[in-house]
Amino acid sequence: MIQVNNISRSFFVGGDNSSTITTILDNVSLEIKDGDFLAIVGKSGSGKSTLMHCISGLDTPQSGEVMYDGVNIFGMSSNDIANFRNKKIGFVFQFFYLQEKSTCFENCVLPLEIEGEKIKSERISIVTDALKRVGMYDKANSIVQNLSGGQKQRIAIARAIVNSPEYIFADEPTGNLDTLNSNNILNILLQLNKDMKKTIVIVTHDLEIAKKAKRSIQIVDGKIHEN
Ligand SMILES: Nc1ncnc2c1ncn2[C@@H]1O[C@H](COP(=O)(O)OP(=O)(O)O)[C@@H](O)[C@H]1O
Ligand SMILES: [Mg+2]
Repeated sequence: MIQVNNISRSFFVGGDNSSTITTILDNVSLEIKDGDFLAIVGKSGSGKSTLMHCISGLDTPQSGEVMYDGVNIFGMSSNDIANFRNKKIGFVFQFFYLQEKSTCFENCVLPLEIEGEKIKSERISIVTDALKRVGMYDKANSIVQNLSGGQKQRIAIARAIVNSPEYIFADEPTGNLDTLNSNNILNILLQLNKDMKKTIVIVTHDLEIAKKAKRSIQIVDGKIHEN
């Protein structure tokens, strides 16, 4: 379970003479239960990505705690936070961040090579399973730059799950896709939630997608509202 306790995040904006502080998250608290599928919605610039980054330890709020099963990640060293993230969280982003000139297999095996704990045959079997799960096994040896946006996002999801994370954070994963591909990506995420019990947090401005989540919250003026 994730407990977000009273986090605040603000940024300095502007130059030397006119710099001001803008509060993006204002004393926000939130509980995300294991097996939840939470959508975060809100206008552009309302702080959706900032909230996701703070919950996942990619960013550090000025105050407050984020507890995973009772442990505050901001009590850890930055090295330990990074290790925690690599083990527990899979990330999916709007712009995929894949190695465009590498194959689908090479992209997906990379996190396992970085982790360095599995022998080659295990790595191959894990990547095979992940590619099958997203319906991309037949493209294992295709170069990423030749894929469509929807196919790239499926590879990004496969890459996000090879380390068996408990949590998946997806920031506008359908932001660059048409309706058909968006639904396909959403269905893959819904299935990971249902079959593999992954806890999923998705940032989206698409209210149709948010409706299919188990739960949705909105950020308005630094505060969150349950929808
Ligand atoms: N590192 C940063 N430095 C300064 N301002 C930032 C930074 N990150 C985000 N912001 C500002 O915080 C606000 C919320 O950003 P963001 O969380 O990306 O919004 P959203 O994802 O809802 O579109 C924006 O006004 C953005 O410019
Ligand atoms: Mg954003």
